[in-house]
Amino acid sequence: MKMLVRSMLMLAAGVAFAASTCAAQSAGAATYKAKCQMCHGAKGEADTPTAKMMKVLPLSSPEMKKLSEADMVKSTENGKGKMPAFKGKLTTEQITEAVKYFRSLK
Ligand code: HEC
Repeated sequence: MKMLVRSMLMLAAGVAFAASTCAAQSAGAATYKAKCQMCHGAKGEADTPTAKMMKVLPLSSPEMKKLSEADMVKSTENGKGKMPAFKGKLTTEQITEAVKYFRSLK
């Protein structure tokens, strides 16, 4: 009986973990699609008309590749060049999730 309870607990913990990582990923995707995609493109390749007009760099560019996650979160919070600052519009957590999703596109 004890064994059964323990394995049930482990199963429950596993499910909870899977659900939370999945939710974080989809929250990042939703934020990216709503707030970033029009300028960075569905694949992060800056292939939208707005991106071309603003000369947004694609994810595959060497300049983007050398940025760390922390660099990206900072630029998104404070804004960079023509990119508006997202501080106050999104929480640091939302920005981090969106950046994680953005980085996962390459
Ligand atoms: C209005 C258009 C626009 C929107 C919306 C936008 N960006 Fe940008 N983004 C830009 C432009 C333009 C640049 C290039 C800035 C430069 O280097 O001058 C840029 C650059 C970046 C960079 C590189 C910064 C660096 O340090 O070089 C990251 C990372 C980034 N954006 C992430 C995001 C994320 C995440 C979002 C959504 C929360 C977002 N952007 C929304 C236009 C936009």
